[in-house]
Amino acid sequence: MSQERLQKILSQAGVASRRASEQLMLDGRVTVNGTTLRELGTKADAGRDDIRVDGRRIKIPERRRYILLNKPRGYVTTRSDPNHRPTVIDLIADVRDYVYPVGRLDFDTEGLLILTNDGELAARLTHPRHGIARVYEARVLGVPDTHDLARLAKGIVIEGRRTQPALVTVLYSRGDDATLEITVREGRNRQVRNMCEAIGHPVSSLRRVAIGPIRDPTLRLGRWRELGAAEVRRLQTAASATLPTVKVKAEDAKRPRKKTSGDQRRS
Ligand code: URA
Repeated sequence: MSQERLQKILSQAGVASRRASEQLMLDGRVTVNGTTLRELGTKADAGRDDIRVDGRRIKIPERRRYILLNKPRGYVTTRSDPNHRPTVIDLIADVRDYVYPVGRLDFDTEGLLILTNDGELAARLTHPRHGIARVYEARVLGVPDTHDLARLAKGIVIEGRRTQPALVTVLYSRGDDATLEITVREGRNRQVRNMCEAIGHPVSSLRRVAIGPIRDPTLRLGRWRELGAAEVRRLQTAASATLPTVKVKAEDAKRPRKKTSGDQRRS
């Protein structure tokens, strides 16, 4: 926190209005680190100083922060990396509140990432039960055919578990590669890369373009901004919906599958 006028701090703490807080100071009822302060321009740091009114310490409610970052490749999605690689926190160095990333983007994935100190919203956004849609643009090697796309959309068994249905569209395709838009509602490790690998079209670059209702094609790579109040409300609404539970037969994941052309291409 930074230095602010005492009457402003007192009103933020809900002690009284600014005007009434000034009167409290003039009346000698306010102390900072044990000293009574009557002068109205006096500043203090609510994060560091011991500020009291009538001997009772005031509490500043923690300011909720909702940061939207456009992560470039080459950054780890963590607060600190034991291998000393650059982290997403380095990109928001001017945010002084303790925020943490919601979910994860791989070191080589770029795109939208939310960082917050709102633990409840973060938990809801990452819990599979709420099925928040994440939209990716995946550039893949080769051009998947309709059979490959149908496999992606239906779900693919990866590490013994079938991925949930995904929405898949071909955005562009050229002779030797294609860009797919893939919408998934779960956040398994390297999910999109593994899905594309499984159909024999490995990802050459990956970018997240939406998290639930949040998109921002104007946010430049490596830059961040605060989410607006309406965006936070839309996120909260999306994160309070619950997906219907789908029963998956246990034997589905175990049953050996017939070889398809997609399987033969699998690397
Ligand atoms: N899926 C991936 O494979 N990587 C990411 O970073 C995010 C989703």
